[in-house]
Amino acid sequence: MAVRVGVIGCGKITERASLPNLVNYKEKAEVKVLCDIVEDKAGDMAEKFALKGVDIVKDWKKVTERSDIDAVFVNVPNYVHEEIAVGASRAKKHILVEKPITISRRAAKHMIDAARNAGVFLMVEQTQRFDPVHQAARKFIETGKLGKINMVKGRIGHAGPEYWAGGNEGWFSDKRLSGGGAMIDVGIHMLDLLRWLSGKEVAEVCANIKTLEKPFPVDDNGSVIMRFTDGTFGHFEASWTTRPYEVMTWIYGENGKLCTSIGGDKPIVASMATVGEGKDPNCLLEDIVPEVGSGSGWENAIHYFLDCVTENKAPFINGEEGAKSMAVILAAYESAEKGAWVKVK
Ligand SMILES: NC(=O)c1ccc[n+]([C@@H]2O[C@H](COP(=O)([O-])OP(=O)(O)OC[C@H]3O[C@@H](n4cnc5c(N)ncnc54)[C@H](O)[C@@H]3O)[C@@H](O)[C@H]2O)c1
Repeated sequence: MAVRVGVIGCGKITERASLPNLVNYKEKAEVKVLCDIVEDKAGDMAEKFALKGVDIVKDWKKVTERSDIDAVFVNVPNYVHEEIAVGASRAKKHILVEKPITISRRAAKHMIDAARNAGVFLMVEQTQRFDPVHQAARKFIETGKLGKINMVKGRIGHAGPEYWAGGNEGWFSDKRLSGGGAMIDVGIHMLDLLRWLSGKEVAEVCANIKTLEKPFPVDDNGSVIMRFTDGTFGHFEASWTTRPYEVMTWIYGENGKLCTSIGGDKPIVASMATVGEGKDPNCLLEDIVPEVGSGSGWENAIHYFLDCVTENKAPFINGEEGAKSMAVILAAYESAEKGAWVKVK
């Protein structure tokens, strides 16, 4: 039976990711209701995706109180995630909440506890984990060919939220509503990806986070050095002044390195070194190009969530995982403010 879905928040992510990937999975998903505090936006979205017979509501409680809904998509600004996710849990609906899970540790705990007490899934839509290039990277790392990983690096950047939102950056540049700028908006994608690819946890961070160019009161660039709990080194950058868009990672191990580049010419390549007795490991043994699957990060994440609900299988990216990534970002902001290393709490 198809998962009966209510979509709360009918802005850009709903238009670009949720609805296209709900309507292309008709056998698994049925959109029953669209909700936006600006009711016309929900109506326009129903029209755009030819969703005949779908209900349009303004108040999210009118979605969660319905008995004919199994799951909700929480696609609202970051500061609203907590209120709606907790309400949806209490109404016993499964939840796919957009990244970042929320903007404070207290709110994240509230969301996690509510979902656990209700016995519903709380999946955080950290879409970079679902990009086929990154799925291929993780699969390659799992073969163990790189040997022990000692350094991970990443960079994510785009031109800024005003281009995403069509000329008005809106709530993205209001710290009370967003939790910050580029660091929480896109930095969390990269940090979460590095945690997942390496299978390691960050112990402490030292960050430089600034507004270099944009006329916004939030950061547009950030650079974070990390120490992982096992001593691994890490570094990532998040930027709203990068043109064109890019998402890059470098994973270094004893036997070689794996590089991924979305927006570059080689999406994924593992360069293995001539490691062995009497050999010079500065030399290239071979380049391995792992096979990359189909779909996009958005498509794969949304279909995965629907499959989890259908099969009653707990998502691997849950509230706890989302909260761990958010905690690193909050520590990075604290470090940049203090000008010191900060432990991840
Ligand atoms: N996974 C990704 O790659 C990705 C990309 C972009 C945005 N996002 C995330 O998606 C979420 C939404 O971002 P967006 O770009 O769609 O923002 P947006 O401003 O385009 O859309 C948000 C919508 O929520 C509505 N809204 C606000 N408060 C509401 C409430 N209480 N009840 C119902 N509707 C309400 C607004 O009217 C607006 O239409 C954010 O958390 C953002 O970080 C994720």
